[in-house]
Amino acid sequence: MNAILTVSGLRCSIAGQQVVEDVTFEMPPVGITAVLGRNGVGKTSTLRGILGLIHRRGEVRLAGERIDTLPTHKIVRKGVGYVPEDREIFSSLTVAENLALAERQRAPRREFVAELFPDLVARRDQPAGTLSGGQQQMVSVARALINDNRLLLVDEPTKGLAPKIVTEVADALEEAAKTVPILLVEQNLEVVRRLADTAVVIGGGRVVHIGKAREILDDDDLTRRLLGVHAEPTHAHGTEGDRA
Ligand SMILES: Nc1ncnc2c1ncn2[C@@H]1O[C@H](COP(=O)(O)OP(=O)(O)O)[C@@H](O)[C@H]1O
Ligand SMILES: [Mg+2]
Repeated sequence: MNAILTVSGLRCSIAGQQVVEDVTFEMPPVGITAVLGRNGVGKTSTLRGILGLIHRRGEVRLAGERIDTLPTHKIVRKGVGYVPEDREIFSSLTVAENLALAERQRAPRREFVAELFPDLVARRDQPAGTLSGGQQQMVSVARALINDNRLLLVDEPTKGLAPKIVTEVADALEEAAKTVPILLVEQNLEVVRRLADTAVVIGGGRVVHIGKAREILDDDDLTRRLLGVHAEPTHAHGTEGDRA
């Protein structure tokens, strides 16, 4: 299958400091590909580099077409959706307003989003800032799904959420992935095990391992070496409770 995303020798810097050294991987056009790695290794910067939000060099292709030469707004218009870390939403605006502002196509997928997040339909007139952390994350994901994207970049969607909400967000991502390939940065290894086909592991700004997500997580030594954690079904992340 032809890759939806091909990243070759990606290097990124922030304020003159190199934060991604050499990231190379390709992503199939279906399903969820996970990006794993300890804190601070450059996962978020890799996503931001792909989007051209930070200074980058190297080659990035979307379905074979180079996008590393384009400014961010053109990359977004080519169909790359982004759900940033820490779920950036407009707190004082209602759920409906948050979604309306995200629509950039003639036929936004309102019904699809409403089916996926019935909770948000019920709360459409509520200011997004008054939602729970999990509901805010759903608004953030819904903002990306309302457009017919060819690729979604999703950064730590379950961070800081209570276990039950983690499951709900994972359910939504699993459903969404039937319609769009997702590159998912995720620290909760249970979620990775459940959702991801392939995993790209980053260490120190470089890809240190690529393989089947399950094979990596089933190998305790490898998981500990690459991620510094056990792959036991404990909550590696998300035990600190729902933030809101
Ligand atoms: N705004 C910034 N200014 C300077 N350095 C940054 C900034 N954001 C991130 N970094 C550095 O870039 C490296 C990679 O960060 P990041 O991509 O956020 O890692 P991850 O998402 O894997 O935790 C880290 O060493 C971090 O300290
Ligand atoms: Mg990050």
